[in-house]
Amino acid sequence: MAVKFNGRYLDGFVSRQEFDNIYPQVQLGHSLLHGKTGAGNDYLGWLNLPFDYDKREFGRIKKAAAKIRSDSDVLVVIGIGGSYLGARAAIEFLGSQYHNEFSGLKVYFAGNNISPDYLNRIIRLCEGKRVSVNVISKSGTTTEPALAFRVFKKLMEDRYGKAEAAGRIYATTDKAKGTLKTLADKEGYETFVIPDDVGGRYSVLTAVGLLPIAAAGFDIDKLMHGAQQACKDFADCTPDNDCYKYAAARNILLRKGKAIELMACYDPDWTMMNEWFKQLYGESEGKDKKGLFPASVIFSTDLHSMGQFVQDGSRTMFETVINIRKPVNDLFLEADAENADGLNFLANQNMSVVNSMAMQGTILAHCDGGVPNIVLEMDGKDEENLGYIIYFFEKACAISGYLLAVNPFNQPGVEAYKVNMFALLGKPGYEKQREELLKKISD
Ligand code: PA5
Repeated sequence: MAVKFNGRYLDGFVSRQEFDNIYPQVQLGHSLLHGKTGAGNDYLGWLNLPFDYDKREFGRIKKAAAKIRSDSDVLVVIGIGGSYLGARAAIEFLGSQYHNEFSGLKVYFAGNNISPDYLNRIIRLCEGKRVSVNVISKSGTTTEPALAFRVFKKLMEDRYGKAEAAGRIYATTDKAKGTLKTLADKEGYETFVIPDDVGGRYSVLTAVGLLPIAAAGFDIDKLMHGAQQACKDFADCTPDNDCYKYAAARNILLRKGKAIELMACYDPDWTMMNEWFKQLYGESEGKDKKGLFPASVIFSTDLHSMGQFVQDGSRTMFETVINIRKPVNDLFLEADAENADGLNFLANQNMSVVNSMAMQGTILAHCDGGVPNIVLEMDGKDEENLGYIIYFFEKACAISGYLLAVNPFNQPGVEAYKVNMFALLGKPGYEKQREELLKKISD
């Protein structure tokens, strides 16, 4: 397993000299991170997490996952942001967006929006099915999951009675405090811990991600093994550290006016990984009026919608291409005797070759159009490779945040919409803001 930084397509955009010039800053970022002296150093639990995790809880996670798989048809995972994206991204990367169609246990995600139609559909999908719920919230007070859990708690208790419902509800939250922890203890739910020193967007390798991923049938030992390997491979600060090269390259490009990073993958199973990446980097770096804007596409699909812009629109972006070298199942393309579609020139080879040529051709065209391309080479689509790339991105994000001189571990900007929403909804304590907002609206 590996993730390799391929900088070949930065030629003409970024010179060797520029990498050398930024390297002392990378060294500083590394020492801030490993010396735990940088901004946000209370939230570095993820750094050694692949080795340094609660092994007893890990065993309980596997047991709970096996129980859910044996006594349930549906697992409803309730959470938002960092308490949601990692689990969904992992499940869909390993099992595709059609994972539920192929699996005995269906995993549905709720509490990541406030749409009544969305929640009603999930409730309908639970009709006549044996259901378990995993509610995930570090604070326990986030409106979206709290609201969905209120609905599902009642549904479960109406259906199973309080005692059996309690045996089917699993809470992943703070180890000691918060509304959800208090409720879980009172109701007797099995609880799993989000460590104090691991922020939401860095939490996929804690119970936050591990319980849903294991319940979906994937091997979390292998996932952790992949992360361990990355933790070892990227531990030292050297000019050859591919994780640090990625962090350096994106900052060099930002300083040259490329403020948008477009993550591109030629496999739709990466779709939710794009979303996970966008949260990790967007929330970590977009602050103090700085940052790269993380955007994403799936090619070749989006070449037919966004391709025009990437090739020919405003020159403000670079691409980071995830090249997954091996598909899980290749498809051999046979020749057709009539060749009515004229596609026999593609026959007698695997479809992955066609996809790979589409990727090569696109990278070259985009570079010609003035879009620098970073390529991250990934070996395959299994749990080990996934654990490896998760850690790669987490560590690169921390180094990149320090290169930007921001605190990569806080998210002060997330509060603003909540204040307005609570004020408009008439939450006690928000009367003054409510008055001001209503005046703005009526003006
Ligand atoms: O990265 C983060 O910290 C956020 O995305 C949170 O994970 C998200 O807001 C959910 O918070 P909580 O787990 O407290 O419900």
